[in-house]
Amino acid sequence: MADFDLPARNRRLLLVRRPTGVPGPRHFAMEDAPRPVAGPGQILVRNLYLSIDPAQRGWVADAASYVASVPLGSVMRSLGLGIVLNSNEARIAEGEFVYGWLGWQDYAAITFDQVLTSVAEPRLPLAAYASVLGISGMTAHLALEQLGRPKTGEAVLVSAAAGAVGSIVAQLARRMGCRVVGLAGSDEKAARCVARYGCDVAIDYHLRDLESALRVATPNGIDIFFDNTGGEILDLALRHMAPFGRIIQCGTVAVPVWSPPPIGPRNEREMLTRRLSWSGFLIFDHIARCEETVEFLVERVLTGELVYDVEIDNGLEQAPSALVKLYQGVTLGKKLIFVGRG
Ligand SMILES: NC(=O)c1ccc[n+]([C@@H]2O[C@H](COP(=O)([O-])OP(=O)(O)OC[C@H]3O[C@@H](n4cnc5c(N)ncnc54)[C@H](OP(=O)(O)O)[C@@H]3O)[C@@H](O)[C@H]2O)c1
Repeated sequence: MADFDLPARNRRLLLVRRPTGVPGPRHFAMEDAPRPVAGPGQILVRNLYLSIDPAQRGWVADAASYVASVPLGSVMRSLGLGIVLNSNEARIAEGEFVYGWLGWQDYAAITFDQVLTSVAEPRLPLAAYASVLGISGMTAHLALEQLGRPKTGEAVLVSAAAGAVGSIVAQLARRMGCRVVGLAGSDEKAARCVARYGCDVAIDYHLRDLESALRVATPNGIDIFFDNTGGEILDLALRHMAPFGRIIQCGTVAVPVWSPPPIGPRNEREMLTRRLSWSGFLIFDHIARCEETVEFLVERVLTGELVYDVEIDNGLEQAPSALVKLYQGVTLGKKLIFVGRG
Protein backbone atom coordinates (compact mmCIF):
# COMPACT_ATOMS: atom_id res chain seq x y z
CA MET A 1 0.00 0.00 0.00
CA ALA A 2 2.80 2.40 0.85
CA ASP A 3 5.17 3.45 -1.87
CA PHE A 4 8.29 5.17 -0.60
CA ASP A 5 12.07 5.27 -0.68
CA LEU A 6 14.56 5.70 2.14
CA PRO A 7 16.91 8.57 1.36
CA ALA A 8 20.20 8.60 3.23
CA ARG A 9 19.74 12.23 4.33
CA ASN A 10 16.84 14.21 5.78
CA ARG A 11 15.67 17.23 3.79
CA ARG A 12 14.02 19.77 6.09
CA LEU A 13 12.16 22.98 5.35
CA LEU A 14 13.12 25.57 7.92
CA LEU A 15 11.26 28.77 8.73
CA VAL A 16 13.84 31.49 8.04
CA ARG A 17 11.72 34.67 7.83
CA ARG A 18 8.68 35.55 9.86
CA PRO A 19 5.79 36.61 7.61
CA THR A 20 3.00 39.05 8.21
CA GLY A 21 0.03 37.29 6.68
CA VAL A 22 0.29 34.14 4.61
CA PRO A 23 3.76 32.54 4.49
CA GLY A 24 5.18 31.61 1.09
CA PRO A 25 8.36 30.19 -0.46
CA ARG A 26 10.58 33.14 0.56
CA HIS A 27 9.96 32.44 4.25
CA PHE A 28 11.48 28.95 4.12
CA ALA A 29 14.83 27.38 3.22
CA MET A 30 15.65 23.75 2.46
CA GLU A 31 18.31 22.17 4.66
CA ASP A 32 20.06 18.86 4.07
CA ALA A 33 20.52 17.18 7.47
CA PRO A 34 21.60 13.73 8.68
CA ARG A 35 18.86 11.14 8.87
CA PRO A 36 17.60 11.17 12.49
CA VAL A 37 17.59 8.12 14.74
CA ALA A 38 14.91 7.14 17.23
CA GLY A 39 16.10 8.06 20.73
CA PRO A 40 14.78 6.50 23.95
CA GLY A 41 10.96 6.50 23.87
CA GLN A 42 10.91 7.75 20.28
CA ILE A 43 9.78 6.38 16.95
CA LEU A 44 11.50 7.07 13.64
CA VAL A 45 8.96 7.89 10.93
CA ARG A 46 9.40 8.01 7.17
CA ASN A 47 7.08 10.88 6.30
CA LEU A 48 4.70 10.20 3.40
CA TYR A 49 1.89 12.78 3.27
CA LEU A 50 2.35 16.21 4.81
CA SER A 51 -0.73 18.24 5.63
CA ILE A 52 -1.16 21.78 4.36
CA ASP A 53 -3.40 23.63 6.81
CA PRO A 54 -4.68 27.20 7.00
CA ALA A 55 -3.62 27.13 10.67
CA GLN A 56 0.02 27.11 9.59
CA ARG A 57 -0.31 30.84 8.93
CA GLY A 58 -1.05 31.30 12.64
CA TRP A 59 1.74 28.95 13.73
CA VAL A 60 4.40 31.16 12.12
CA ALA A 61 2.84 34.50 13.08
CA ASP A 62 4.56 36.71 15.61
CA ALA A 63 1.43 36.86 17.76
CA ALA A 64 -0.08 35.13 20.75
CA SER A 65 -2.11 32.08 19.80
CA TYR A 66 -3.16 28.74 21.28
CA VAL A 67 0.33 27.46 20.55
CA ALA A 68 3.84 28.96 20.54
CA SER A 69 5.11 30.34 17.21
CA VAL A 70 7.50 28.15 15.23
CA PRO A 71 10.96 29.51 16.14
CA LEU A 72 13.04 30.94 13.29
CA GLY A 73 15.53 28.34 12.08
CA SER A 74 13.28 25.41 13.03
CA VAL A 75 11.56 22.81 10.88
CA MET A 76 8.11 24.05 9.86
CA ARG A 77 5.42 22.61 12.09
CA SER A 78 3.08 20.30 10.22
CA LEU A 79 0.83 17.35 10.69
CA GLY A 80 1.42 14.39 8.44
CA LEU A 81 1.10 10.68 7.88
CA GLY A 82 4.10 8.38 7.83
CA ILE A 83 5.28 4.84 8.40
CA VAL A 84 7.19 3.80 11.50
CA LEU A 85 10.67 2.52 10.61
CA ASN A 86 12.01 2.00 14.15
CA SER A 87 10.21 2.07 17.46
CA ASN A 88 11.52 2.54 20.99
CA GLU A 89 7.95 3.10 22.17
CA ALA A 90 6.00 0.04 23.34
CA ARG A 91 2.63 1.42 22.20
CA ILE A 92 3.65 1.77 18.54
CA ALA A 93 5.08 -1.00 16.38
CA GLU A 94 7.38 -0.82 13.39
CA GLY A 95 5.37 -0.88 10.16
CA GLU A 96 2.39 0.99 11.65
CA PHE A 97 1.23 4.24 10.12
CA VAL A 98 1.06 7.29 12.35
CA TYR A 99 -0.65 10.65 11.90
CA GLY A 100 0.90 13.37 13.99
CA TRP A 101 3.43 16.17 14.31
CA LEU A 102 5.95 15.18 11.65
CA GLY A 103 7.04 18.58 10.30
CA TRP A 104 8.01 19.58 6.78
CA GLN A 105 10.80 17.03 6.35
CA ASP A 106 11.51 13.52 5.03
CA TYR A 107 11.93 11.81 8.42
CA ALA A 108 10.74 12.60 11.95
CA ALA A 109 11.92 11.21 15.28
CA ILE A 110 8.97 11.82 17.58
CA THR A 111 7.47 10.73 20.88
CA PHE A 112 4.09 9.14 21.59
CA ASP A 113 2.50 12.45 22.60
CA GLN A 114 3.23 13.79 19.12
CA VAL A 115 1.07 11.07 17.56
CA LEU A 116 -2.64 11.83 17.13
CA THR A 117 -3.71 8.51 15.62
CA SER A 118 -2.05 5.29 14.48
CA VAL A 119 -3.20 2.45 12.31
CA ALA A 120 -1.65 -0.96 11.68
CA GLU A 121 -3.89 -2.05 8.82
CA PRO A 122 -5.37 0.86 6.88
CA ARG A 123 -8.87 0.27 5.49
CA LEU A 124 -8.74 3.30 3.19
CA PRO A 125 -6.03 4.83 0.98
CA LEU A 126 -3.25 6.34 3.10
CA ALA A 127 -4.07 9.90 2.00
CA ALA A 128 -7.46 9.52 3.70
CA TYR A 129 -5.69 9.23 7.06
CA ALA A 130 -4.25 12.72 6.56
CA SER A 131 -7.50 14.26 5.30
CA VAL A 132 -11.00 13.02 6.07
CA LEU A 133 -9.58 10.89 8.93
CA GLY A 134 -7.16 13.64 9.94
CA ILE A 135 -7.99 16.96 11.56
CA SER A 136 -10.28 18.02 8.69
CA GLY A 137 -12.80 15.24 9.20
CA MET A 138 -12.34 15.06 12.96
CA THR A 139 -12.95 18.78 13.33
CA ALA A 140 -16.01 18.65 11.09
CA HIS A 141 -17.60 15.83 13.08
CA LEU A 142 -16.69 16.86 16.61
CA ALA A 143 -17.37 20.59 16.26
CA LEU A 144 -20.69 20.02 14.53
CA GLU A 145 -21.80 17.43 17.06
CA GLN A 146 -20.61 19.17 20.24
CA LEU A 147 -21.17 22.83 19.47
CA GLY A 148 -23.72 22.72 16.67
CA ARG A 149 -25.99 20.05 18.20
CA PRO A 150 -27.94 19.80 14.91
CA LYS A 151 -31.60 18.82 14.89
CA THR A 152 -33.62 17.56 11.96
CA GLY A 153 -34.97 20.38 9.86
CA GLU A 154 -32.56 23.02 11.10
CA ALA A 155 -30.76 25.35 8.67
CA VAL A 156 -26.97 25.01 8.68
CA LEU A 157 -24.76 27.55 6.94
CA VAL A 158 -21.17 26.45 6.18
CA SER A 159 -18.44 28.80 4.96
CA ALA A 160 -15.50 27.48 2.88
CA ALA A 161 -18.00 24.71 2.12
CA ALA A 162 -15.98 23.24 -0.75
CA GLY A 163 -12.88 22.89 1.43
CA ALA A 164 -11.49 20.01 3.44
CA VAL A 165 -13.45 20.73 6.62
CA GLY A 166 -16.47 22.41 5.04
CA SER A 167 -17.21 19.61 2.58
CA ILE A 168 -17.39 17.09 5.43
CA VAL A 169 -19.52 19.38 7.61
CA ALA A 170 -22.01 19.81 4.76
CA GLN A 171 -22.36 16.05 4.24
CA LEU A 172 -22.68 15.24 7.96
CA ALA A 173 -25.26 17.99 8.50
CA ARG A 174 -27.28 16.78 5.53
CA ARG A 175 -27.20 13.24 6.90
CA MET A 176 -28.59 14.58 10.16
CA GLY A 177 -31.62 15.91 8.31
CA CYS A 178 -30.58 19.56 8.20
CA ARG A 179 -31.07 21.97 5.34
CA VAL A 180 -27.52 22.87 4.32
CA VAL A 181 -26.42 26.09 2.68
CA GLY A 182 -22.80 26.36 1.55
CA LEU A 183 -20.70 29.41 0.77
CA ALA A 184 -17.75 28.97 -1.59
CA GLY A 185 -15.44 31.11 -3.70
CA SER A 186 -16.75 30.42 -7.22
CA ASP A 187 -19.81 29.20 -9.09
CA GLU A 188 -17.91 25.99 -9.90
CA LYS A 189 -17.16 25.31 -6.25
CA ALA A 190 -20.76 26.16 -5.30
CA ALA A 191 -22.05 23.69 -7.91
CA ARG A 192 -19.73 21.03 -6.49
CA CYS A 193 -21.07 21.69 -2.98
CA VAL A 194 -24.56 20.84 -4.22
CA ALA A 195 -23.66 17.98 -6.55
CA ARG A 196 -21.07 16.23 -4.37
CA TYR A 197 -21.23 17.48 -0.79
CA GLY A 198 -24.97 17.43 -0.17
CA CYS A 199 -25.70 21.15 0.11
CA ASP A 200 -29.30 22.05 -0.66
CA VAL A 201 -28.11 25.42 -1.90
CA ALA A 202 -24.62 26.86 -2.36
CA ILE A 203 -23.69 30.45 -3.10
CA ASP A 204 -20.55 32.12 -4.42
CA TYR A 205 -19.79 34.58 -1.61
CA HIS A 206 -18.44 37.10 -4.14
CA LEU A 207 -22.01 37.67 -5.30
CA ARG A 208 -22.83 41.40 -5.22
CA ASP A 209 -26.06 40.89 -3.29
CA LEU A 210 -24.98 38.05 -1.05
CA GLU A 211 -27.34 39.27 1.66
CA SER A 212 -30.45 38.77 -0.51
CA ALA A 213 -29.23 35.37 -1.67
CA LEU A 214 -28.67 34.32 1.93
CA ARG A 215 -32.11 35.57 2.94
CA VAL A 216 -33.73 33.53 0.18
CA ALA A 217 -31.66 30.44 1.04
CA THR A 218 -32.48 30.61 4.76
CA PRO A 219 -35.99 32.11 4.97
CA ASN A 220 -36.39 31.12 8.63
CA GLY A 221 -32.88 32.19 9.61
CA ILE A 222 -29.70 30.20 10.25
CA ASP A 223 -29.82 27.79 13.18
CA ILE A 224 -26.15 26.78 12.98
CA PHE A 225 -23.34 28.68 11.33
CA PHE A 226 -20.22 26.55 10.93
CA ASP A 227 -17.78 29.35 10.21
CA ASN A 228 -14.40 28.66 8.65
CA THR A 229 -13.76 32.20 7.45
CA GLY A 230 -14.82 34.94 9.87
CA GLY A 231 -14.64 38.50 8.51
CA GLU A 232 -17.43 39.99 6.43
CA ILE A 233 -19.09 36.60 5.89
CA LEU A 234 -19.51 36.26 9.65
CA ASP A 235 -20.76 39.86 9.95
CA LEU A 236 -23.43 39.07 7.38
CA ALA A 237 -24.42 35.70 8.84
CA LEU A 238 -24.90 37.25 12.29
CA ARG A 239 -27.71 39.39 10.91
CA HIS A 240 -29.50 36.29 9.65
CA MET A 241 -29.21 33.95 12.60
CA ALA A 242 -32.42 32.40 13.92
CA PRO A 243 -33.26 32.83 17.62
CA PHE A 244 -31.07 30.58 19.79
CA GLY A 245 -28.74 29.99 16.83
CA ARG A 246 -25.27 28.50 17.40
CA ILE A 247 -22.14 29.85 15.75
CA ILE A 248 -19.14 27.53 15.61
CA GLN A 249 -15.95 29.52 15.08
CA CYS A 250 -13.73 26.97 13.42
CA GLY A 251 -11.42 29.19 11.39
CA THR A 252 -10.71 32.71 10.24
CA VAL A 253 -9.19 32.35 6.76
CA ALA A 254 -10.89 35.54 5.53
CA VAL A 255 -9.09 37.79 8.00
CA PRO A 256 -5.77 38.78 6.41
CA VAL A 257 -3.98 40.20 9.48
CA TRP A 258 -4.76 40.47 13.19
CA SER A 259 -2.56 43.37 14.14
CA PRO A 260 -3.93 45.98 14.41
CA PRO A 261 -7.22 44.26 15.26
CA PRO A 262 -9.59 44.43 12.28
CA ILE A 263 -12.58 46.70 12.81
CA GLY A 264 -16.07 45.51 11.93
CA PRO A 265 -19.68 46.21 12.87
CA ARG A 266 -20.74 46.05 16.51
CA ASN A 267 -22.65 42.79 16.77
CA GLU A 268 -23.59 42.56 20.42
CA ARG A 269 -27.18 43.57 19.71
CA GLU A 270 -27.53 40.62 17.30
CA MET A 271 -26.11 38.31 19.96
CA LEU A 272 -28.52 39.63 22.58
CA THR A 273 -31.75 39.96 20.66
CA ARG A 274 -31.35 36.62 18.86
CA ARG A 275 -29.99 34.91 22.03
CA LEU A 276 -27.08 33.42 20.12
CA SER A 277 -24.21 31.31 21.34
CA TRP A 278 -20.82 31.67 19.73
CA SER A 279 -18.15 29.08 20.53
CA GLY A 280 -14.60 28.57 19.42
CA PHE A 281 -13.48 25.04 18.60
CA LEU A 282 -9.97 23.64 18.60
CA ILE A 283 -9.43 20.04 17.60
CA PHE A 284 -6.35 19.75 19.80
CA ASP A 285 -8.63 19.98 22.86
CA HIS A 286 -10.23 16.70 21.74
CA ILE A 287 -7.25 14.40 21.21
CA ALA A 288 -8.81 11.79 23.50
CA ARG A 289 -11.64 11.35 20.97
CA CYS A 290 -9.44 11.06 17.86
CA GLU A 291 -9.38 7.25 17.56
CA GLU A 292 -13.13 6.93 18.14
CA THR A 293 -13.81 9.69 15.61
CA VAL A 294 -11.62 8.01 12.99
CA GLU A 295 -13.66 4.81 13.42
CA PHE A 296 -16.90 6.75 12.97
CA LEU A 297 -15.60 8.41 9.80
CA VAL A 298 -14.03 5.25 8.30
CA GLU A 299 -17.38 3.44 8.44
CA ARG A 300 -19.15 6.29 6.68
CA VAL A 301 -16.53 6.54 3.95
CA LEU A 302 -16.61 2.76 3.41
CA THR A 303 -20.40 2.77 2.99
CA GLY A 304 -20.16 5.68 0.56
CA GLU A 305 -22.16 7.91 2.91
CA LEU A 306 -19.23 10.32 3.05
CA VAL A 307 -17.04 11.37 0.14
CA TYR A 308 -13.75 13.21 0.45
CA ASP A 309 -11.36 14.85 -1.99
CA VAL A 310 -7.62 15.25 -1.78
CA GLU A 311 -5.30 17.28 -3.97
CA ILE A 312 -1.75 16.00 -3.76
CA ASP A 313 1.40 17.81 -4.87
CA ASN A 314 4.65 15.87 -5.14
CA GLY A 315 7.84 16.93 -3.40
CA LEU A 316 8.73 18.62 -0.13
CA GLU A 317 9.79 21.79 -1.96
CA GLN A 318 6.14 22.30 -3.03
CA ALA A 319 4.89 22.77 0.55
CA PRO A 320 5.27 26.58 0.89
CA SER A 321 3.57 27.35 -2.42
CA ALA A 322 0.80 24.88 -1.57
CA LEU A 323 0.02 26.96 1.51
CA VAL A 324 -0.23 30.08 -0.65
CA LYS A 325 -2.60 28.25 -3.01
CA LEU A 326 -4.82 27.27 -0.09
CA TYR A 327 -5.33 30.93 0.77
CA GLN A 328 -5.90 31.81 -2.89
CA GLY A 329 -8.83 29.38 -2.94
CA VAL A 330 -7.44 27.49 -5.93
CA THR A 331 -7.27 24.09 -4.23
CA LEU A 332 -9.99 21.45 -4.38
CA GLY A 333 -10.29 19.20 -1.37
CA LYS A 334 -7.64 18.59 1.25
CA LYS A 335 -4.21 19.79 0.17
CA LEU A 336 -1.41 17.28 0.85
CA ILE A 337 2.23 16.99 -0.16
CA PHE A 338 3.57 13.53 -0.95
CA VAL A 339 7.19 13.32 0.17
CA GLY A 340 7.64 9.56 0.10
CA ARG A 341 9.84 9.64 -2.99
CA GLY A 342 12.65 12.12 -2.76
N1 LIG B 1 -10.44 24.84 14.81
C1 LIG B 1 -9.85 23.72 14.44
O1 LIG B 1 -9.50 22.85 15.24
C2 LIG B 1 -9.58 23.55 12.98
C3 LIG B 1 -9.10 22.35 12.44
C4 LIG B 1 -8.93 22.26 11.04
C5 LIG B 1 -9.23 23.36 10.26
N2 LIG B 1 -9.68 24.51 10.84
C6 LIG B 1 -10.04 25.69 10.06
O2 LIG B 1 -11.05 25.31 9.16
C7 LIG B 1 -10.98 26.18 8.03
C8 LIG B 1 -10.95 25.33 6.78
O3 LIG B 1 -9.74 24.58 6.78
P1 LIG B 1 -9.45 23.53 5.63
O4 LIG B 1 -8.25 22.79 6.02
O5 LIG B 1 -10.71 22.81 5.35
O6 LIG B 1 -9.08 24.47 4.41
P2 LIG B 1 -9.86 24.57 3.04
O7 LIG B 1 -11.26 25.02 3.33
O8 LIG B 1 -9.68 23.33 2.27
O9 LIG B 1 -9.05 25.73 2.34
C9 LIG B 1 -9.22 27.05 2.75
C10 LIG B 1 -10.35 27.69 1.93
O10 LIG B 1 -10.63 28.95 2.47
C11 LIG B 1 -11.26 29.72 1.49
N3 LIG B 1 -10.77 31.09 1.58
C12 LIG B 1 -9.50 31.54 1.43
N4 LIG B 1 -9.46 32.88 1.56
C13 LIG B 1 -10.75 33.26 1.80
C14 LIG B 1 -11.37 34.52 2.03
N5 LIG B 1 -10.66 35.66 2.03
N6 LIG B 1 -12.70 34.57 2.24
C15 LIG B 1 -13.42 33.42 2.24
N7 LIG B 1 -12.90 32.21 2.03
C16 LIG B 1 -11.58 32.12 1.81
C17 LIG B 1 -10.89 29.12 0.13
O11 LIG B 1 -12.07 28.57 -0.43
P3 LIG B 1 -12.98 29.42 -1.44
O12 LIG B 1 -12.42 29.19 -2.81
O13 LIG B 1 -14.32 28.85 -1.23
O14 LIG B 1 -12.84 30.85 -1.04
C18 LIG B 1 -9.95 27.99 0.49
O15 LIG B 1 -10.09 26.87 -0.34
C19 LIG B 1 -9.73 27.03 8.23
O16 LIG B 1 -10.11 28.27 8.77
C20 LIG B 1 -8.92 26.26 9.23
O17 LIG B 1 -8.05 27.06 9.96
C21 LIG B 1 -9.85 24.62 12.17
